[in-house]
Amino acid sequence: MRLDKLLSSLGYGTRKDIEFFARRGYIKYKGEICKDATKKVEHEDVLFDNEPLDHPHGMIIAMNKPKGYICSHEDSGRLIYSLLPDRFASRNPKLSTIGRLDVDTSGIILFSDDGNINHSLTSPKRHIPKVYEVTLKHPLRGDEQKVFASGTLMLNGEEKPLLPAKLEIINDTLVHLSIDEGRYHQVKRMFAAVGNRVEALHRIKFGNIGLEGLEEGEWRYVSMDDVLGSES
Ligand code: URA
Repeated sequence: MRLDKLLSSLGYGTRKDIEFFARRGYIKYKGEICKDATKKVEHEDVLFDNEPLDHPHGMIIAMNKPKGYICSHEDSGRLIYSLLPDRFASRNPKLSTIGRLDVDTSGIILFSDDGNINHSLTSPKRHIPKVYEVTLKHPLRGDEQKVFASGTLMLNGEEKPLLPAKLEIINDTLVHLSIDEGRYHQVKRMFAAVGNRVEALHRIKFGNIGLEGLEEGEWRYVSMDDVLGSES
C-alpha cells in the first residue's frame, strides 16, 4: 500500500501531513529514511519516528473498563475511547467496541476496527460466553439458576426467550452469570425478571479473555485465537 495511504488510515495524519513527515525524515522504510510518501510499502517494514507502526487493520483490543466511561463515539461525558491513544480516534476504518457495557459496568471490553470480527464475536450463534460478577441488592430467592438455565425466560418487551444462561452462586448476594448473547441491559433485566436488582456489575470474561495483567483503564492487543481459546 502507498505509504501516505497506509499511515493516514492508521491515524498518523492526513496524506498532506504524511508527505510533510516524510520530507522531514520522520519515516523509515526497511531501515532507510524514506522521503517519498507515495512509495508502496509493507506495514511491518515501516518505522514512524523510529517506532513500529500501530497494529494494522483487523485488530482486536481488550481493555479493563473503569466505571464512569461511556461506550460511545459521541456522547457527553467521559468516552471510553479517551482511554486509548489519540491516534486511534483517527483510524479509518474506525475502532468500535464489540458490544457495549453500561456506564456503571466495569471489566473486560473488546474493540475492533473490523466489522466482520465485531459481528462474529457478538453473534449469539457463536455461543461465546460473557461472564459477569454481579452484586445483588437482595438475597437470591432460590429458583434463579433454574429460571436462567431454562431457555424460556422472556424479558419485558422482547419476542424471543433468552438462551440458557449459567449462574454460579458465590454467596446469596454475589454471583457469576455466564451469558452467550448481549441484549440491551441484559443482566440487569434478567435479575429484574426474578425480582432482584443489580447493585454492581463487573465483566470478568469475554470468551477466553480475562482481566489478568490489566489494571483499570489499561488495554492490550489480543488475537481472535486468544478470544476463542480452544474453540478456534
Ligand atoms: N448487562 C447489563 O445489564 N449491563 C451491562 O453493562 C452488560 C450486560
